[in-house]
Amino acid sequence: MCTTVATGTIADVEVVTTGLDVQPDATAACYDLLSETERSRANRFASASDRRRFIVARARLRELLGARLHVPAAAIELSSGPNGKPALGGQFACSDLRFNTSHCEDVAAYAFAYGREVGIDIERVRVMSDADTLASRFFSDDGRATYEAPPASGRPLGFFRSWTRKEAFIKALGEGLDYRAGFDAEQWQLMPFTPAAGFVGAVVIERSPAWQAQ
Ligand SMILES: CC(C)(COP(=O)(O)OP(=O)(O)OC[C@H]1O[C@@H](n2cnc3c(N)ncnc32)[C@H](O)[C@@H]1OP(=O)(O)O)[C@@H](O)C(=O)NCCC(=O)NCCS
Repeated sequence: MCTTVATGTIADVEVVTTGLDVQPDATAACYDLLSETERSRANRFASASDRRRFIVARARLRELLGARLHVPAAAIELSSGPNGKPALGGQFACSDLRFNTSHCEDVAAYAFAYGREVGIDIERVRVMSDADTLASRFFSDDGRATYEAPPASGRPLGFFRSWTRKEAFIKALGEGLDYRAGFDAEQWQLMPFTPAAGFVGAVVIERSPAWQAQ
């Protein structure tokens, strides 16, 4: 129903990217797949484009989960963790399928893995007037080095590389804005990817117990 622009596997994580800029009839079909709670949330968006993006991104998530669990998209039940991380709920809560999503403008990305937590984040590379302040407030030493490494013209790319890596880690943990601890490479694996032209993305997956035991 919604157009999948790319799918691939990075170190046991399946990553799917999708465009969210669809025609009104496709948006209406997506809306039909949503739960009552999701429809209420959709109807609270003030901006029509934000509403469309939420509807299409959430319907696509349902389709992708439904395909992996062999059930119709509308039958998927979702719950959410203490900081809002979506997870499978109800009759699907026992599944070992793990997922996470990110969307920016008209691009959405989804990460799927089995038995291991995942986090994903994408951003369009753009100039941020408060980049220096955000970098000193939120980035680790490594993150600041990635941000500051390129010459000034390359700083937006460095900033969003660091930003998406930090966000993907926070999202793998299911934490929120206040989370401060550094990245633990013993337990987590980080992989950058390019979701679309002009965008950067990062995926973080829990390492397998076999790797941790080495
Ligand atoms: C949700 C959060 C984790 C990411 O939000 P974001 O980057 O603005 O938005 P994204 O599109 O990448 O992700 C949104 C999706 O993540 C998922 N999500 C929501 N809360 C989540 C959480 N705590 N953990 C993991 N995933 C979460 C949802 O699927 C959500 O999609 P939805 O809005 O359709 O339900 C954000 O609320 C947050 O707390 N970010 C931390 C900010 C921060 O510390 N920044 C430091 C600079 S790097």
